[in-house]
Amino acid sequence: MLKRWCRKFPGLPRQVAEARDFVAALLGDEGSAPVDDALLIVSELATNAVRHTRSGRYGGWFLVAVGFGDDVVRIEVFDAGGDKEPLLRSINSDVEEGGRGLLLIAACAKNWGVQDRPYGRCVWAELARVNA
Ligand SMILES: Nc1ncnc2c1ncn2[C@@H]1O[C@H](COP(=O)(O)OP(=O)(O)OP(=O)(O)O)[C@@H](O)[C@H]1O
Ligand SMILES: [Mg+2]
Repeated sequence: MLKRWCRKFPGLPRQVAEARDFVAALLGDEGSAPVDDALLIVSELATNAVRHTRSGRYGGWFLVAVGFGDDVVRIEVFDAGGDKEPLLRSINSDVEEGGRGLLLIAACAKNWGVQDRPYGRCVWAELARVNA
C-alpha cells in the first residue's frame, strides 16, 4: 500500500455512520475510487463488528483502515472477536432473514478475506481503483 489511514471507533451502532463518513472523506480526497462500493463495504463490516463480536459490548471498539495501492483500495475492519465466525451464507438460504452483508461484499469486491488477530479478527475487502 502506498498509504494507509486508520481510525478507531466506539463499538456503537450509530458509529457505523461515522465510519462511513471517514471512508467517504478519504475517497473524496483521492478522487479515484469506487465510493458506493467502498461505503457499502465499510457499512456492512462495521455493522458486523458491532452486531456479531465483542466490539459491540460495553466499552468495545472497532477499527477501520483504508489503504491505497496502485491498483486497489483496501478496506479493513478490525473487531474484538468472540464466539462467532464470519461465514458466507449460501445464496439459496433465503429461509432466514439477514446473511446478505458478506454476500454483497463478495459480489462487489475484487477480493476479500478474514485474518485472525490476537484480540479478534480483521475482515478486509479490496476494490479495483477506477482510473488507476
Ligand atoms: N466480524 C465478524 N466476526 C464474527 N462473526 C461474524 C462477523 N461478521 C459476520 N459474522 C457471522 O457471519 C454471518 C454472516 O454475516 P453477514 O454480514 O453476511 O450476515 P448478517 O450480518 O447475519 O446479516 P445482514 O448483514 O444481512 O444484516 C453473521 O450472521 C455472523 O454469524
Ligand atoms: Mg452483516
